[in-house]
Amino acid sequence: MTEPTPTEPAWLEEGLRHIWLPYSQMKTAPRPVAVRETRGSRIILEDGRELIDGIGSWWTAVHGYNHPVLLEAVRKQLERMPHVMLGGLAHEQAYRLASRLADILPGDLSRVFFSESGSVAVEVALKIAVQYWLNTTGEVRPKFMAFRGGYHGDTFAAMSVCDPEDSMHARFGAALAEQVIVDLPSDEAKAEAMDAALSRNYDIAAVIVEPLLQGAAGMLMHDAATLRRIREICDRHGVLLVFDEIFTGLGRLGALTAADAAGVTPDIMTLGKALTGGVTPLAVTVASGKVYGAFHSDAPAKALMHGPTYTGHALACAAANASLDLFEREPRLAQVAAVETHYERTLLPLKDLPAVIDVRIRGSVAAVEMKKSFDLQAARRLFIEQGVFIRPIGKVVYLAPSYTISGDELQALTGAISRFVDSSGK
Ligand SMILES: Cc1ncc(COP(=O)(O)O)c(C=O)c1O
Repeated sequence: MTEPTPTEPAWLEEGLRHIWLPYSQMKTAPRPVAVRETRGSRIILEDGRELIDGIGSWWTAVHGYNHPVLLEAVRKQLERMPHVMLGGLAHEQAYRLASRLADILPGDLSRVFFSESGSVAVEVALKIAVQYWLNTTGEVRPKFMAFRGGYHGDTFAAMSVCDPEDSMHARFGAALAEQVIVDLPSDEAKAEAMDAALSRNYDIAAVIVEPLLQGAAGMLMHDAATLRRIREICDRHGVLLVFDEIFTGLGRLGALTAADAAGVTPDIMTLGKALTGGVTPLAVTVASGKVYGAFHSDAPAKALMHGPTYTGHALACAAANASLDLFEREPRLAQVAAVETHYERTLLPLKDLPAVIDVRIRGSVAAVEMKKSFDLQAARRLFIEQGVFIRPIGKVVYLAPSYTISGDELQALTGAISRFVDSSGK
């Protein structure tokens, strides 16, 4: 870890001797910057500096930080009852949230299972898919089809459906269950290849995809026609389709879900990240009536034997209900559209610069892909020095801020990216 700075608080130095940080080589990682508080799209540091946040805490804080409606909902729930378990007991927040999600999600996605992280929501989706076959035809279908560029989380089954070569889990290759990984069917030839791979593999339970946008791979985007092909091919082979909307769900791309934007409905959907507006952890796996029907039986063995300790956590569900209130009451999707328009005006022209390979924009997400690799740590430091929090992945400098970010704040983010691209030359 790099050397301490004179202004940093004592708890940082002390804690760094014991904490094991995410996605970090602890020996060489730069020191994290100590944060005192947050407000709107601002991160206020312990040394008094303010950063405009382009990432929204791993894509969660969609209403901005400390939104009073979310804070009040959690506060009220905390005083009444932080949580009671869902085994044998029920509380209003989880039950109301399940009903509301069933109302607003497309098709008959109508059965909501709660967990605490995106990776676990994906695990649950995959487990449901395997058991769907056990419960209906009795077949053992242990495999999944997934796509190059995909990322679905860090737990073992989730890692196994990530891109096997181009993801941070590549070193685990031999330790993971082998899955069938193909190209997204972005044209007819690739659709035929996907179709053929399904014909060869009768033991595939489900196909899993990040619809419209592969986030962790560098904000790679595909079109609705690709998803329509995937849906058609799944239907032809009778396999289930899982949309992993942990990132794309809840307005991120301009519609409530990518499924809505594309007009394609999966059999199972996962949501997480923005579900509580970044206030507490919560994720859901939502199954269609057809999938749920395979579990609804007099046979105990057909039940879904899954139950995280904190499933349906009351504070998290209170935050999520309040977040849905905000989506209903405030013009979130219009705000996302305004963010998109701003990107088109400020970032799209960068496409013509020699240092840039591509600029991708959809809803509140913008990605500028650079031609050459650059020093990631130096770039991240440079952005902080300029008063913005932007964390490029690979060669991609991207934004996924809160939907409520102001025009001036957005300008500060896109301006910093333009300066970065300019200074990168060719
Ligand atoms: C599409 C997708 N699926 C799953 C996950 C894993 O979510 P979590 O980090 O909450 O486990 C992520 C996280 O970035 C994601 O983007």
